[in-house]
Amino acid sequence: MRYLSQNKIENSTVLMRVDFNVPINDGIIIDDTRIINVIPTIDSLIKNKNKVILISHLGRPQKKSANLSLNLVYHALSKMLNCTVKFCENIVGKKANKLRCDLNNGEVLLLENIRFLSDEKIGKTKQATEKNHFLAKELISNVDYYVNEAFACSHRESTSMTIIPKYFYKKKFAGFLLQKEINHLSKIKNSPLNPFTAIIGGSKISTKIKLIEKLIVLCDNIIIGGAMAHTFIVYSGGKVGSSLFEPDQVSKVKIILDQAKKYNCKIHLPLDCISTNQISNNSLTKTRDIKDIPLDEMSADIGPKSIKQFDKIIKNSNKILWNGPLGVFEYSPFENGTKIIAQSINIATKLGAYSVIGGGDSIAAINKFNQNFNFSYLSTGGGAMLEFFEKEQLPALKSLVD
Ligand code: 3PG
Repeated sequence: MRYLSQNKIENSTVLMRVDFNVPINDGIIIDDTRIINVIPTIDSLIKNKNKVILISHLGRPQKKSANLSLNLVYHALSKMLNCTVKFCENIVGKKANKLRCDLNNGEVLLLENIRFLSDEKIGKTKQATEKNHFLAKELISNVDYYVNEAFACSHRESTSMTIIPKYFYKKKFAGFLLQKEINHLSKIKNSPLNPFTAIIGGSKISTKIKLIEKLIVLCDNIIIGGAMAHTFIVYSGGKVGSSLFEPDQVSKVKIILDQAKKYNCKIHLPLDCISTNQISNNSLTKTRDIKDIPLDEMSADIGPKSIKQFDKIIKNSNKILWNGPLGVFEYSPFENGTKIIAQSINIATKLGAYSVIGGGDSIAAINKFNQNFNFSYLSTGGGAMLEFFEKEQLPALKSLVD
C-alpha cells in the first residue's frame, strides 16, 4: 500500500473518498470528529496546489432525500478550511462536470451524498456491475490520483470504495488518517504486549460474536458488559428479570466459553448491576446481584462489585481495546459503570498501557463525560474497526494495493 504521507502530489486533481457520515439531529451536526480528522489531509493537498474533489456518503438513503444531503457538512467544512470550498448538489452529469472543470488549483469541491446514486451499491448482475464501472469512470474523469481517507467505511464494498481504486495503478494512496488507523489497530492486533484485555459492551452479542471469537485467540481477558452480558448470565442459569438479552444467542455462549478455555482467555462477566423498572433520568435504582433480578426489573448498568473487579483487570493490563458501553450511559443514573471504566483505562494508559477505543457509542460516551482522557488512540471506525479484527483484510484496503 502506498501512503500519501510518503509521496508528494502537486498541481494535480485528487479524488478523495472521505467518511462524512456524521450524526445529525434537527439539522445540527452532533459530532464533527470525522470532518475534523481529515482537515490535515485536505490542507496538505491544498498547500501543494492540488484540486481536491471529495466523495462521501451520509446515512443509508435509497434515493435523494433533503435530510441526508451533504450540504450541512459542506458549511461545516468551509469554516474549517482556509480555501475556496464548493458544493455540487449533483454527483455526476453536466453541472458536476462544469464545477469540476472550473475548479482552480488549491480549491475543494464536495460532491453530494454518493449513496443518492443507486450505482454506488455493488450490483449482483453483470448489467449492474457494468453500471458500477460506468459510474466509476465518470467520477475519475480527469483525475490524477485517488486517496482513501475513509477508514470508517473501508469494510464496505462499493463503487467509490472498491471499484474506483482498481482504475489507478501506483497513483492511489492511503490518506494520513487511514494510515494512522491502520498503524494503531495493527499495533493492538499484532504487538506482543501482554496482558491484553478487551472490554466489549453494547446490547447485542449477535453483532459482536465474530469479534469475540477472534479476540479469544488474541486476548488474556475479555470483559463483557452492557446488555450483551445478560445473554451469558441466562446461559449460566441466572435470572435477569426483564433485562434485554438475545434468547437465540444463548446456545452460542457455550461455544464462546469452550473456545475461551481452549485459548486460555478469561471471560469476565458483571457480578452485580444497577437495576430499575424504568429507564429515565429520574429512575429509581437498586444495586442487585446480576443473577437475581426480579421479573419486573432490568439491569441498566454494571454495579460496584463489577466495577472493582474490572478496574483491577484493566489496571493490570498492558494492551487494552474497548468497544461498546457497559450500561445505558445516555441516562445519568446508568452512566457510572461506563464512566469509571473509561477512567480506569485512562489511568492504565498513564501507567504505560497501550489503549485503543472505537465504536460510535463508546466515543459518544467519552464525549458526554467530557473529561481529559488520555487514551493512546480513538478510532473513527465502528463496524470497520470490528471487521479489522475479524478479517484478514478489509475490502477497500485490498483495493488500494496494486
Ligand atoms: C459508519 O458510520 O460505520 C460508516 O460510515 C459506514 O456506514 P454504513 O454502515 O452505513 O455503511
